[in-house]
Amino acid sequence: MIRRMATTNPIPRFPAGFLWGVSTSAHQIEGAADAREPSVWDAFTAEPGRVRDGSTAAVACDHVHRHREDVALLAGLGVDAYRFSVSWPRVRTPGGLDFYDRLVDDLCAAGVRPVPTLFHWDLPAGLDWLERSTAERFAEYVGEVAGRLGDRVTKWITLNEPAEHTLLGHALGVHAPGRELLFDALPAAHHQLLAHGLAVRALRASGAGDIGIANSHGPTWPASPDRADVEAAGFYDLLLNRLFADPLLLGRYPEGVDELLPGDAGADLEVIAEPLDWYGVNYYAPTRVGAPRGTETDFGGVRMPAGLPFSVREIEGYPVTDFGWPVVPGALTELLTDFRARYGDRLPPVVITENGCSYEGLDDQDRIAYLDGHVRALHRALEAGVDVRGYFVWSLLDNFEWAEGYTRRFGLVHVDFETLRRTPKASYGWFREVLRAQRG
Ligand code: NOJ
Repeated sequence: MIRRMATTNPIPRFPAGFLWGVSTSAHQIEGAADAREPSVWDAFTAEPGRVRDGSTAAVACDHVHRHREDVALLAGLGVDAYRFSVSWPRVRTPGGLDFYDRLVDDLCAAGVRPVPTLFHWDLPAGLDWLERSTAERFAEYVGEVAGRLGDRVTKWITLNEPAEHTLLGHALGVHAPGRELLFDALPAAHHQLLAHGLAVRALRASGAGDIGIANSHGPTWPASPDRADVEAAGFYDLLLNRLFADPLLLGRYPEGVDELLPGDAGADLEVIAEPLDWYGVNYYAPTRVGAPRGTETDFGGVRMPAGLPFSVREIEGYPVTDFGWPVVPGALTELLTDFRARYGDRLPPVVITENGCSYEGLDDQDRIAYLDGHVRALHRALEAGVDVRGYFVWSLLDNFEWAEGYTRRFGLVHVDFETLRRTPKASYGWFREVLRAQRG
């Protein structure tokens, strides 16, 4: 039934100028690891047992050598924009910016607007987000990138999902750099926010505009109306939906986290709250949260230790992706309307910087149903008054899905990781037709 819905009713029309795109990130697709400095992810994946299939991203999609083919896939899809990330470890290598220079040229020649993310988790090895100086180094690197690409790049993203990078990489240790600091990870969050604010200033100083950030968000549903469950869900909501958004949009941290932050954090809020031109939301699924159970729990393959003030529960009654994530398109409307209610006029225009799902197969009707449902849900948010300006599918290509290695396929284009051959899936054709109809 979902399949029929996906192909019969036309998707409502989005406003003129709405930005349609697809996203990727450097470490997940580039390969050519010998032509860049190592990142924390290279060190992490070299440790046995860290990545489900024991793989690394040394080759990944070999995008550095095949970017012309990938730009042709983008042009064939007909997207307005392509969100990719610049690898800081590559930029630190002599000549490292040359690759992005060519990529940006090729994108412009193909009529696809380049939208670079300046940090998507691949921190140069030897740097550490627990150190304040990393934020300053980041701003220097951003200045360098803007100086080289700023004549052609007109839309920028500072950071990708600092919440996940903090939680998975520094609190739970399932992503690089593999730290298990639990709440002592909070300085890594603060220093990323500071890095963001300093980067916004560096970009503006170089004449760049149209600056946003890509944050992960999702509705948090209490396991029951019981007070203990509602409180636990509220705490989880604070971590996922407010810890980064409040300082960025309101210039203050949510109540109760201050004592976990570095002592000088308050003085940085003015930098962190530099006005944004737009706010990027990465959305995948809602989370059901209840009171702590006193035992370790499993959350989509992520071990959540006992001792956290909440426990993540299963969401029943919805289809799930190969990752086990529930498919709940309506939760995207809910997220955006709640976000707008929470932040009011402090919320700049929103762009969905990632949305997608992992499924096997070339005839990926489940992916089509997922994307179709979410694009419609996004339109409902627009109708409800949320100023949404763009939608980017994660991802153009199947790629290195972090601790899951190559076992989760999010691409509109299939990649055979033996031959590196690209094959557009049914969802690629579906998205191309959606874009055509929007313009027709
Ligand atoms: C968010 C991350 O930004 C991206 O790198 C990842 O592949 C997708 N989510 C899917 O998990």
